[in-house]
Amino acid sequence: MNDFGEKLINWYKINKRDLPWRNTRDPYKIWLSEIILQQTRVDQGINYYLKFIDAFPTVQDLAGADEDEILKLWQGLGYYSRARNLHKAAKDVLHLFDGIFPRTYEAIKSLKGIGDYTAAAIASFAYDLPYAVVDGNVYRVLSRYAGVETPIDSTLGKKEFTLLANQLLGNHSPHNFNQAIMEMGALQCKPSNPDCGSCPLNGGCYAFENKQVEFFPVKSKKTKIRNRFFHYLVISDENEFYIRKRKEKDIWNGLHDFPMIESKEKVEESELMNGTEWKRQFDNQELTSISVSKEFKHILSHQHIYAKFYRIKTNLKCFKETEEHWKKVDDESVKEFAVPRLIEEYLKTM
Ligand code: ADE
Repeated sequence: MNDFGEKLINWYKINKRDLPWRNTRDPYKIWLSEIILQQTRVDQGINYYLKFIDAFPTVQDLAGADEDEILKLWQGLGYYSRARNLHKAAKDVLHLFDGIFPRTYEAIKSLKGIGDYTAAAIASFAYDLPYAVVDGNVYRVLSRYAGVETPIDSTLGKKEFTLLANQLLGNHSPHNFNQAIMEMGALQCKPSNPDCGSCPLNGGCYAFENKQVEFFPVKSKKTKIRNRFFHYLVISDENEFYIRKRKEKDIWNGLHDFPMIESKEKVEESELMNGTEWKRQFDNQELTSISVSKEFKHILSHQHIYAKFYRIKTNLKCFKETEEHWKKVDDESVKEFAVPRLIEEYLKTM
């Protein structure tokens, strides 16, 4: 295993992609890139990264921003609590660290939303501190290379792989080693059908030598998926319709959507319209017309959401809820609000 790091870094120097966050040592920019890259692939992440840096060039700018503006820029990335954590952490850098991004692993990790992985990434990329990163790419490369069968989604697995990664890091440049091992996972040691014949590490690779590449990494649990059925009520007159800001402790907190009836099972249209929720909402009001959209499917890591949109033409006054948290918008003004991707897709068809 002695030459793992050297071969890895040599390969990286030749094969690395030119990515914007690789041309900086600014911890703020590196942090931003890492949080974005936890949510999306590199090609899409670049656009989000550039938009954020453009809008908020410094941690002070991010701290001073309006949360709605941050959520709007984050729109489409999902896991909106990550965007809110970014905001909170930026404010803490200002107030607890005098506006200077912390320089030690422990202090970096004390910021909201920064765990072991992100702290190691910032510490190594910005300050060359010797903390090995362990993300999905690293689990894959190391489990295959060293033939480690400990499940990667277990506490023991996390411990073992962190130890192994730090041993292999040794005296190599933490910045280069960490970038290289993640790049190896992304470009060469891919989840399926990796081109092992051309891999510089195939000489010492357990999985390659034992023809078990597809067997690694090992996971212990299957993710449990919850199905949810959303029936959105697009209550409108000719042009205007209602939206509101979601406040529940649930997905999409802080984003905007329509009034909604949720069911645990699939419910046909007639069943929904005869149900108590619908009756409570409309209380026998005159509804001029109702058109129902196709079903939109939205996949999250632990939830599958099936949504239909009921466009209900009526006199807006008949909508029972109070005015305070319901905003009247039209096709144009709705664009100013951060909405979940599912709603964005529907709005395109309106
Ligand atoms: N994925 C997570 N962090 C990354 C980085 N710094 N470069 C490329 N891909 C990444």
